[in-house]
Amino acid sequence: MEGVLRKVMRMLLRAAPACALVLALSSGGAAMDRSELAKVLKTIPPNGPFAKFGNVTMRTRAKQAGMAPVVFPHWVHRARYTCRVCHLELNFGMKRGDTGITRALYTKGRFCGVCHDGTVAFGVQTADKQCHRCHMENTKELDQRFEDFSEGLPLASFGNGIDWAAALRDGSIRPTNSINGQITLPFPEKLKQPLKLGTASPRSDVSFSHEEHFAELDCSSCHPDIFNIKVKSTSAFTMETNIYGNFCGACHMLVSFPMNDCKRCHKGMNSSFGT
Ligand code: HEC
Ligand code: HEC
Ligand code: HEC
Ligand code: HEC
Ligand code: HEC
Ligand code: HEC
Repeated sequence: MEGVLRKVMRMLLRAAPACALVLALSSGGAAMDRSELAKVLKTIPPNGPFAKFGNVTMRTRAKQAGMAPVVFPHWVHRARYTCRVCHLELNFGMKRGDTGITRALYTKGRFCGVCHDGTVAFGVQTADKQCHRCHMENTKELDQRFEDFSEGLPLASFGNGIDWAAALRDGSIRPTNSINGQITLPFPEKLKQPLKLGTASPRSDVSFSHEEHFAELDCSSCHPDIFNIKVKSTSAFTMETNIYGNFCGACHMLVSFPMNDCKRCHKGMNSSFGT
């Protein structure tokens, strides 16, 4: 924790000259000054160990039944399947706890049971005796497998320490985009040009590539729940709302590279949150 605070301080010190400008918010022209921004940035949670980033712990029903909690690691799965497969085709919610997974459902072949059938992946039935691979007291073994897995993949400073976008581009991962044989729409030509977001603020030069996101997601992953479909129609689209898990932060805090990695969105920003 202390180390992280030191990093924030270092980042703010380095960024001081640029920050001294009063920042105009893209949402309605209010201004965020340096100390307000500092407060917002301090609320970015520390990254934590690379191996644990994107793990979702499910303990409600498991605990009631006296079972160890279930740890769902995104890294294992996203190397094999795009987000679209689970969050569109298989109806997993993008908020923890939303899906309502129960043993009765997954042993009948829904949710986790679609793949964990003893063929595609280890099974969920009593006879499979693999309970411990999902219901785990601690993540030691899983973390160890992450170390082996991540070796040789392109590096990033935050999140899983893996540059997933680069891994996809260079073919070191080749996730399947459908397991139902659903045909995905061709990518619309007119969205090829990256969008410039919120030019109102002197420090923000965020560009958003539809094409790169469409490689793993579906239009409905973002529209209309997370973003309005018209450029700049999304109100309250600021760093602060992003950090609290909205907009970009709906993915870029929990599964995709987190908000700490300033440079990956603000291409022109030469200060990042530690290195
Ligand atoms: C193999 C299936 C699978 C794949 C592939 C997958 N997810 Fe998930 N995701 C889940 C499950 C299961 C949950 C937890 C849902 C619940 O608790 O009800 C989840 C939860 C999430 C959450 C909420 C996490 C939290 O901590 O609250 C986000 C955000 C998310 N996924 C984004 C993504 C993105 C982005 C991708 C692609 C890079 C992706 N997921 C790929 C199954 C998957
Ligand atoms: C789209 C297919 C798919 C879905 C859906 C899916 N998994 Fe997996 N899962 C896999 C594959 C493939 C592997 C890796 C193969 C293996 O180790 O047998 C894996 C591996 C895992 C691992 C790693 C275990 C280890 O010992 O390395 C865990 C934990 C896990 N899954 C939990 C879950 C949970 C919990 C759910 C539901 C919330 C789920 N999975 C849904 C395909 C899937
Ligand atoms: C592929 C991953 C996976 C495997 C393997 C698995 N479970 Fe689960 N189990 C889950 C998930 C996900 C939940 C929901 C957890 C929650 O919400 O707390 C769950 C919940 C449960 C519950 C809570 C009661 C309920 O109705 O949901 C029990 C009991 C349970 N599992 C028993 C077992 C037993 C016994 C085994 C081995 C024979 C097993 N599980 C194997 C993923 C798995
Ligand atoms: C990862 C999230 C995400 C995905 C996936 C996504 N969009 Fe968008 N889209 C955005 C954002 C962010 C904006 C800009 C919103 C703003 O400025 O308020 C936008 C804007 C748009 C616009 C307005 C563009 C303009 O130039 O006026 C259209 C049209 C659009 N999206 C269509 C689509 C379609 C079609 C798909 C699927 C092929 C798609 N989007 C997938 C996030 C996404
Ligand atoms: C629905 C989930 C989701 C949302 C919402 C989302 N992203 Fe992403 N984004 C992803 C995934 C998945 C990747 C692949 C890399 C990763 O997971 O780390 C990605 C990658 C990126 C990249 C890296 C491209 C590269 O080649 O390095 C940038 C930049 C980016 N997103 C910006 C944004 C911005 C800005 C917003 C908000 C306007 C946003 N994203 C909203 C899921 C999302
Ligand atoms: C996932 C993409 C993403 C990451 C990572 C990210 N930002 Fe932003 N940031 C945005 C978006 C989108 C906006 C709002 C649109 C705009 O103003 O350009 C924004 C706006 C801002 C603004 C303008 C003031 C405001 O609140 O609107 C500042 C300053 C800023 N970000 C600083 C940072 C710093 C410092 C970091 C790293 C600690 C960071 N950002 C990381 C996407 C990101």
